[in-house]
Amino acid sequence: MKFPKDFYWGAATASYQVEGGIENCDWAKAAREGRVPACGRACDHYHRYEADFDLAQQLGHNAHRFSIEWARIEPVEGQFDTAAIEHYRAVIRALKERGLTPFVTLWHFTLPQWFADKGGFESKQAPELFARYARYVVEQLGDELAGITTMNEPIVFAGLGWLKGNWPPFKMQKLADWQEYTNSGKRSQSRPQQSWWAYGTYRRVVRHLVMAHNQAYDAIKLVAPDLSVSIVKHVVAYDATSNPWQRCKAWFATNFQTHSFMRKVADRCDEIGLNFYHYVKFGDRGEHPKSDMGWEMIPGGIYRALHILHHYQKPIFVSECGVADDDDSHRAWYIEEQLTGMQQAMADGVDVRGHMYWSLMDNYEWALGFEKKFGLIEINYDTLERKIRPSAWRYKELIEQYSVADNGSAAS
Ligand code: FCB
Repeated sequence: MKFPKDFYWGAATASYQVEGGIENCDWAKAAREGRVPACGRACDHYHRYEADFDLAQQLGHNAHRFSIEWARIEPVEGQFDTAAIEHYRAVIRALKERGLTPFVTLWHFTLPQWFADKGGFESKQAPELFARYARYVVEQLGDELAGITTMNEPIVFAGLGWLKGNWPPFKMQKLADWQEYTNSGKRSQSRPQQSWWAYGTYRRVVRHLVMAHNQAYDAIKLVAPDLSVSIVKHVVAYDATSNPWQRCKAWFATNFQTHSFMRKVADRCDEIGLNFYHYVKFGDRGEHPKSDMGWEMIPGGIYRALHILHHYQKPIFVSECGVADDDDSHRAWYIEEQLTGMQQAMADGVDVRGHMYWSLMDNYEWALGFEKKFGLIEINYDTLERKIRPSAWRYKELIEQYSVADNGSAAS
């Protein structure tokens, strides 16, 4: 196996999941209301980023993906905090000083409270407000960067917030909520939404997310025409046995999950980020081992996910893929299989530019709190001590082994 010399190797994080101390966003409010676990100081990465990047450098990484917290940059509608910008400038510079290329995401799930109060992405104003934020960040930090991602996993955000209803704004209400509402003489709380209504709202949110990306792209290009703009899409790699009916199912599922969104934004993507966690083969009854998330571990399925995105003929970087594995018994195998799948896709002509493992360190796994351990680095949440897991060293070895040296041969 060989990967090009300028291939990006690294890991990913997201602001709310690691930084700590973010209180003015919708997830913090939901935590105060007891609807999701509290995030608190998380990994305190906000203050410890330099030491964390020292570790990433030690682990052989040459790139790092992270996100900027919108609620820090624009804490009040239309008012931008220059101190927050300077913080992220320092983060970017700290990466570059260590030889790590920054992959910045403008928005990774959490919304400033003022924006959520206006209806978040349900609101007609949302695309414009998002584009204004994107433009501001790029005006301030664009010079430091070669590329930027507008948003992370829009369909996951909309699906969990509006169809499943277990993430803010918790829109798909459960039957139990209806019973409580009815039993209370229809006074106790706001009227739960019916599912067909929630689906309509979900479609509106998705439409606004498409518009938000496209308007942000245009706004960014006005101030930084050369900056490469991407979106990060979570792709469920649907596949099938040779049975025509199963193939038909995979085709529909892929269209619903990936293409229906991507085809509306692809014109305004210079690159695409792939987040890969799930491979589903219709018609295959095989059993697969499961991760601590209860997700089937089929890392080689990344091959299929890359082919799905290859349809758009844009450079792709793997912006996330990883496994929750508390005892670190599967992670090294998982990474190695991913790299094999990536290499096969590249041999078929898929233009893959990088691999960012999720995650650099253990972190706040959204509605599941701190229990799930995705990190190359283990965090002790009492002491905030960092400990490198053995699989992280194995990843380093693989990076060294697979990188092509200056003379074109494999480095080792
Ligand atoms: C992805 C999210 C990321 C993390 C991983 C496990 O869907 O982008 O924040 O939660 O899943």
